[in-house]
Amino acid sequence: MSKKLIHDFIVVENRPLNEAHFLLVLEAPAPMPDIQPGQFVEARIDGSPKTFLRRPLSIHDVDYRRNLLTLLVQQKGEGTRHLSRLSSGASLNLVYPLGNHFTLVENQDVLLVGGGCGVAPLLFLARRLFEKGNRITTLMGARSAEGIMEKEKFEAFGAVEITTEDGSMGTRGFVIHHNIWRKRPFAYPRIYTCGPDPMMRAVGRLAKIHDTSCEVSLEQTMACGLGACLVCVVKTNHGHVCTCTDGPVFNINDLTEWLEQNS
Ligand SMILES: Cc1cc2nc3c(=O)[nH]c(=O)nc-3n(C[C@H](O)[C@H](O)[C@H](O)COP(=O)(O)OP(=O)(O)OC[C@H]3O[C@@H](n4cnc5c(N)ncnc54)[C@H](O)[C@@H]3O)c2cc1C
Ligand code: FES
Repeated sequence: MSKKLIHDFIVVENRPLNEAHFLLVLEAPAPMPDIQPGQFVEARIDGSPKTFLRRPLSIHDVDYRRNLLTLLVQQKGEGTRHLSRLSSGASLNLVYPLGNHFTLVENQDVLLVGGGCGVAPLLFLARRLFEKGNRITTLMGARSAEGIMEKEKFEAFGAVEITTEDGSMGTRGFVIHHNIWRKRPFAYPRIYTCGPDPMMRAVGRLAKIHDTSCEVSLEQTMACGLGACLVCVVKTNHGHVCTCTDGPVFNINDLTEWLEQNS
């Protein structure tokens, strides 16, 4: 795992994707270290006195040729609102790359399942899995068509399937209602998922039923991001661990209690 860096990135582009989400394309001041899909940054929110702690954000994409790192951000509170207002040329201080990463397999049929903003860590993952000869299907779910983001970019790496709760795009319902889960034999020996906890639990349970490997990326509340404050602890089958250092990616086989929770 490469060492952690603190860099002032320069905002190259801040592009709205819909009312609540935007893409921040950032240029690194020096060549970026080795970054793995699933890792995240901690962004310092300058000029926002109420936002004392850094905010954790997944690394959405990396372009080593142009030295660019992209974040996909949902505007939630003060910190992300502040980020949404950054314009080209502004500086953004990041600690990165943090956390563990998704397991990269080779030459397999893989299913990526992203709910809403949960697609954020999956694009860089799709890029790396594609480079390793995997056949990729991405299943994206959102409340409505407006919440389906970066579809064309995922299509560059394989098939994209859509579900929306209101039926405005793709299959009506949640990701777990898609036909993909009903086909026998189940086509994917490996699933990667990120999104709201209830969605990931539902996907994890389906993975168990289909006896297929499944990794989830947990978005626990975090403070330090470095394993010091213990805010982000999650109970695994091997004891309590920090999501920021031992995660955010976990195999569902290690999260029996988490998987059984109802919310
Ligand atoms: C590993 C990881 C990766 C993440 N990746 C992304 C991403 O790629 N894109 C994205 O938009 N969001 C991502 N998040 C969630 C993001 O960190 C929070 O939405 C953000 O910190 C909210 O900050 P705020 O100041 O805007 O909102 P606040 O006003 O602080 O809070 C608004 C709500 O956001 C949630 N929240 C607040 N702080 C955190 C926190 N530190 N961690 C998690 N949830 C929090 C709480 O539910 C809270 O009620 C990720 C979180 C984690 C842990
Ligand atoms: S966020 Fe502080 S220990 Fe994980």
